[in-house]
Amino acid sequence: MHVLTRIGLIGGTGKEGQGLALRFVAAGYTVMIGSRDADRARDIVAGLQDRAVGGALEGDSNAEVVAACDVNVLSVPFAHAASTLDGLRSAFRPGSLLIDVTVPVSFGGGAVRYADVAEGSAAEQVRRHLPEGVGLAGAFKTVPAYLLGKSDRPLDCDTFVCGDSPESRRRAIEVLEPLEGLRTVDVGDLESARALERMTVLLININRHYKIHDGRFRILGLDAGTG
Ligand SMILES: NC(=O)c1ccc[n+]([C@@H]2O[C@H](COP(=O)([O-])OP(=O)(O)OC[C@H]3O[C@@H](n4cnc5c(N)ncnc54)[C@H](OP(=O)(O)O)[C@@H]3O)[C@@H](O)[C@H]2O)c1
Repeated sequence: MHVLTRIGLIGGTGKEGQGLALRFVAAGYTVMIGSRDADRARDIVAGLQDRAVGGALEGDSNAEVVAACDVNVLSVPFAHAASTLDGLRSAFRPGSLLIDVTVPVSFGGGAVRYADVAEGSAAEQVRRHLPEGVGLAGAFKTVPAYLLGKSDRPLDCDTFVCGDSPESRRRAIEVLEPLEGLRTVDVGDLESARALERMTVLLININRHYKIHDGRFRILGLDAGTG
């Protein structure tokens, strides 16, 4: 039994959010899918219900979700992350944790590129738009939505976890540990997101070059470590 049982997904109606919802439900959590439109969230939940085995799945507006959860995941396109967080500012529970999965990517002229962010990374910009009493971790940045959505397949990969404090990273790792086949790798403070988010772009380009959808990262040698 998890200490925490309820996880909210801001923008959980998208590809990444739906995949995450299935994986968290499979780990026994109650997952609330959030949307700008509560009815849309409930429609998405209805469509996922057959595949949502383990915990429970609910849908509501982003604001209701954030107000109801001690852990939320931000899964909107990066271009809308700041405005989304500004709009939800008063809804966040003090002491709650936000897990940021956003990656600033530009698609233009057939190429996929990292879209530079003034703060250095999406995660660092997200930090600026969160209330002070809400902790922030970055995770799942390099885990493709395609793989998350294939809920009958093991994830069989690492996710890198950075955060604004050791406590935020510890909490995020505790939340992610029950996800089957996913290993967490603590990569330190939020500045690590500058590398992680660029690794996502690399991964998208690898997937495109080899015409696959589920390329992912695994760090070798960690099992011998003591971190
Ligand atoms: N796709 C991947 O493989 C992948 C991998 C790693 C990380 N990520 C990151 O995960 C995040 C979500 O990716 P995705 O592919 O799921 O994105 P998406 O499908 O394009 O969008 C996710 C959700 O964001 C909400 N949204 C769209 N425009 C918005 C706006 N103007 N303001 C507020 N909310 C808006 C929508 O929900 P409502 O209309 O219901 O509100 C939408 O369903 C992105 O930041 C992406 O970089 C994606």
